[in-house]
Amino acid sequence: MRKRIAVLPGDGIGPEVTEAAVKVLQVIGRRFKHTFDVEYGSIGGEAIDKYKTPLPDETIELCQQSDAILLGAVGGPKWDKNPAELRPEKGLLAIRKHFDLFANLRPVIAVPSLLKASPLKEEVVKDVDLMIVRELTGGLYFGEPSKRTEKAAFDTLVYTKKEIERIVEKAFELARLRKGKVTSVDKENVLQSSKLWREVVEEKKKGYPDVEVEHMLVDSAAMQLVTNPCAFDVVVTENMFGDILSDEASVITGSLGVLPSASIRADGFGMYEPIHGTAPDIAGQGKANPAATILSVAMMLKYSFGLEEECAAIEEAVNAVFEDGFYTADLASPADRVLSTNEWTDKVVDELDLQSVCN
Ligand code: NAD
Ligand code: IPM
Ligand code: MN
Repeated sequence: MRKRIAVLPGDGIGPEVTEAAVKVLQVIGRRFKHTFDVEYGSIGGEAIDKYKTPLPDETIELCQQSDAILLGAVGGPKWDKNPAELRPEKGLLAIRKHFDLFANLRPVIAVPSLLKASPLKEEVVKDVDLMIVRELTGGLYFGEPSKRTEKAAFDTLVYTKKEIERIVEKAFELARLRKGKVTSVDKENVLQSSKLWREVVEEKKKGYPDVEVEHMLVDSAAMQLVTNPCAFDVVVTENMFGDILSDEASVITGSLGVLPSASIRADGFGMYEPIHGTAPDIAGQGKANPAATILSVAMMLKYSFGLEEECAAIEEAVNAVFEDGFYTADLASPADRVLSTNEWTDKVVDELDLQSVCN
């Protein structure tokens, strides 16, 4: 297989973690006899500095001509005071919208060797295997009006029925391939958009009699996600609730640095991105955990290219490295030796080489 991948490293730790993930991708290419042509593009703060826009036309062009996109992260204190249109985050929202990447899949899986890194009790988190399905191109992030006047500020939470239908269908389809349960999270006791959301779920569930459905208010979901996370399978929710709940869910796995995501559209084209940000506090120090971005590449291989075996090879290698007791600073206990981003990535590469010798 030959694929072209647009890599958009972005800001802060973005370049460090994408470099690690590209290294792993190329190892997979050599082992499984695929060619991955990687080309780099600009996005976020570094694009503002270079092109005076967070999403240059050149980057859209590059992505258009590619089979998938790998993104690091965007943003940082340098651009925090910029006007809204010149914020790095605007570039990320714009690329999601441009390519209609409406379904953001954020898997959260407890890894035995990381249980000790979670502040939650082991017995609460040890069997967690859930998937947050976050609507990514609608809601408060994109609704109009969104503006500021002298005395007030507006954001608009709007969803069309069509937008809700397609993300809910995606959640049902995924649940069918998993444990067969969908938890739809909303704020139906207050918001009009949530009332519509709940109606659509009720309507859609008729087509999926094999899937169990529950509705949960978002405040309660936030609580249950940390008190009884094993009760969840697929969690489907609107853009902002999904953003918040997925960072909360990272507490289950012990670090934001291990949660990957896929942002995809109906035809399988997708952008793959860790859920974490640019971590300005550790950027440029070789401290970033690259696992989330490496696992995002694994998701790319599975969801965009149908390469299940290659995806599994990466996931197994990452787990084996944790199992062997190798951690970056975010996951290490005081007694552990702390590995740098590059050292930890090399352990994953060694593990992949070992797998190929054993197979
Ligand atoms: P953040 O996710 O960047 O960092 C939160 C905390 O988690 C920090 O202490 C950081 O060091 C740690 N962390 C995050 N990723 C890590 C990793 N891979 N390895 C080890 N530790 C890691 O969130 P923030 O500090 O709220 O945001 C910083 C900037 O990132 C902001 O400008 C924000 O807008 C941006 N951001 C971008 C994205 C994205 O591009 N997808 C996502 C979230 C935040
Ligand atoms: C994420 C981030 C983004 C979001 C920001 C940076 C726009 O937090 O990918 O989770 O809110 O979607
Ligand atoms: Mn987020």
